[in-house]
Amino acid sequence: MRTADNQPAKRDSFASSFGVLVAMAGSAVGLGNLWRFPYLVGQNGGAAFILIYLGFVILAGLPVMLAEFIIGRRSQASARRAFQVLAPGTHWGITGILGVICCILILSFYSVVGGWGIEYLFKSVRFDFTYGNQENLKTLFSSFSTSVWRPLICHTVFLALTAGIVIAGVQKGIEKFSKVMMPLLFLIVIGIAVRSMTLPGSGPGLSYLFKPDWSKVTSQTFLAALGQAFFSLSLGSCMVITYASYVKKDANIISLSAQTAAADTVFALIAGCAIMPAVFAFGISPGEGPDLVFVTLPHIFSQMPLGGVIAIFFFLALLLAALTSAISILEVIVAFCMEEFKMKRTVADVLVFFVIWVLGCLCSLSMGPLSSWKVLDKNIFDLFDFLSADFLMLLGGLLIVIFAGWKLGRKVVYDEFTNGGTLPVPAWMLKTLLFLIRFVAPAALLAIAIFQIHE
Ligand code: PFF
Repeated sequence: MRTADNQPAKRDSFASSFGVLVAMAGSAVGLGNLWRFPYLVGQNGGAAFILIYLGFVILAGLPVMLAEFIIGRRSQASARRAFQVLAPGTHWGITGILGVICCILILSFYSVVGGWGIEYLFKSVRFDFTYGNQENLKTLFSSFSTSVWRPLICHTVFLALTAGIVIAGVQKGIEKFSKVMMPLLFLIVIGIAVRSMTLPGSGPGLSYLFKPDWSKVTSQTFLAALGQAFFSLSLGSCMVITYASYVKKDANIISLSAQTAAADTVFALIAGCAIMPAVFAFGISPGEGPDLVFVTLPHIFSQMPLGGVIAIFFFLALLLAALTSAISILEVIVAFCMEEFKMKRTVADVLVFFVIWVLGCLCSLSMGPLSSWKVLDKNIFDLFDFLSADFLMLLGGLLIVIFAGWKLGRKVVYDEFTNGGTLPVPAWMLKTLLFLIRFVAPAALLAIAIFQIHE
């Protein structure tokens, strides 16, 4: 049944503001925090990278998040239709389609890495790392990730878990799962951070995280920091638009955005405190790269008192964090199919599962048997990562801030920030946020795009 303005008559919604916050934080906190952030910090000179990252979170991340909130909550519609509802008869809907394509690409490789998390959780439960040195842990990881069957099975299990939660809907699936898992996740990572910071010799790791060394900063550091801010806050992919479309009209979207960005950033810093002090305490180079989580950390766990148990908790945290993010990516695509093609949630969920499963299998096989299939000199896994995180998310973010700041304009933006004048938001805050959305975020995104083209 549909209403006069062609809106579906009954839409799912989150039950409470706390539910929205944990679901949003669940999406933001993921492999980006536990896998990508620590190794980028390690490769880009520690505290200096963190400060630049924080700058981008405030100057570019927060405005894009606010813009997505405005579009989603006002339209109460999924990725493409949100733009159609707010700007009928224009081509802005393409931004939504780009977002859906971006989510398809991300979930395909994300599910493979989530699958590696499952394998490593099993390995840690069997105490497989106990006698490993760095070399044979490296071989263990590369022989697993380049093989055919095990990574495919793990990818299938991870994606099935994700689809299983999304099939239950927004309130009974996403909100319920996030409410239990997010606090647990924070507790586990805080526990590991305490263990890591109390190891003898962990001091240099902490100063690496908190004392900036500006000599390591290059233009590459800025690119990496902006890309990471977008990936970590799940921006530019219409994810926030989709979740915001389930948010009630009386919710305060400024404080929800600020709280989500703060929770994600605090979590990334705690993850840094869980990993870097231990890396330094065992005399390992912090710039290990993407292998950090699957090779260096197991090596550290193998030497650390109580390391076997810590390893189990760490990989459990990694898996939970990956799942709460994966459900948000899947929801963008499922909601799109439900609204565009009038599909039932179950049908959309199963269909999208199969599409992503096939693409994910290609990503997984591209680490081994299909490694010679290259486009732009990248295998399929790296190509999907590059196209989504380094290109579509930033392009999407740029289009989204321009749409909210200039196409919808000041009246709509203020109206959404103040819930139609019922929330007492100070005028200076409204003006500053609008300025960030209209000028600062587009300028930062364009500057980085120009840098990238010149690379
Ligand atoms: N923010 C997630 C992470 O840090 O792992 C990744 C992500 C989730 C990206 C949702 C995009 C998205 F729509």
